[in-house]
Amino acid sequence: MNRHLALELARVTEAAALESGRWVGKGDKIAADAAATAAMRHVLGTMDIYGTVVIGEGEMDEAPMLYIGEKVGNRKYQAVDIAVDPLEGTTLCAKGTNGAITTIALAPAGGFLNAPDMYMDKIIVGPEGKGIIDIDAPPGENLRRLAQAKRCNIADLTVVLLDRPRHNDIVADIRKAGACIHMISDGDVAPAVATGIADSGIDMVLGIGGAPEGVLAAAAVKCAGGDMQARLIFTTDCERERAPTMGITDPDKIYTLEEMATGDVFFAATGVTSGALLRGVRYSSGGARTHSIVMRSRSRTVRFLDSFHYFDHKPLH
Ligand code: FBP
Repeated sequence: MNRHLALELARVTEAAALESGRWVGKGDKIAADAAATAAMRHVLGTMDIYGTVVIGEGEMDEAPMLYIGEKVGNRKYQAVDIAVDPLEGTTLCAKGTNGAITTIALAPAGGFLNAPDMYMDKIIVGPEGKGIIDIDAPPGENLRRLAQAKRCNIADLTVVLLDRPRHNDIVADIRKAGACIHMISDGDVAPAVATGIADSGIDMVLGIGGAPEGVLAAAAVKCAGGDMQARLIFTTDCERERAPTMGITDPDKIYTLEEMATGDVFFAATGVTSGALLRGVRYSSGGARTHSIVMRSRSRTVRFLDSFHYFDHKPLH
């Protein structure tokens, strides 16, 4: 795939952040998400791709834009799969709390797992943990292996989890093992990306979050050379009945990183509110500054972009 697409993706997430950033703290997560989605779709339309949204805002009848199956781009050149979460952490944005991002990933056609909108159990580590994780092993055992691979003590490791009652047993096991825990109220993609960034202070992401977010995380983890395993979690009969129509024949299957994100994968994200990985949008008179990350699996290059935008010269504004 054309490597210039990586920087094009940053334009997409920057535009979404600039629009949703206007909604920070305003208590309206739907409006914030709609603003990010419209901006993202607008910029995607200018890209030299024949893109199909495989992870998007929902099914065609429930999402006006960036729905699953929607064709995006100017339909030239490359056929690609697109995974988007125009605003990851809608509540974080609505409340003005840390960690909301806009994010997109791209793979050659057929490269992303078509994950339904349901839950997914995940274990994610950075490059040093490649090949050592086992989603079926207790958290303490995975931490022991990671500490060995990183040549540190378990006490030096930090695990990120969504703060949910469903994680009580995992939390107890991590505490018993002696690692630090950082609980988040929402937004498990950004910490997944952070596992691949040296000195981010995040060593592992564990627990159950959204499956679409899992695929976006897989794209970033692949770009960073890390590792991930995942399993879909069925909570309703409807999800179980629908699974075969989405190509899921074994509901207990453990997905490897490669099965979730195949080929030359690209990932980009921009901060909306500040977090451990990215700073949020900062507006000033006539412009704004954004902070983004852009990654590509083939080259493993990780770029942080600190961008200034002058609204008099931006088509969106
Ligand atoms: P939204 O951006 O759609 O609000 O999702 C945020 C999120 O926290 C994800 O990061 C996470 O994977 C999922 O929701 C967790 O779902 P739940 O809130 O049901 O535990």
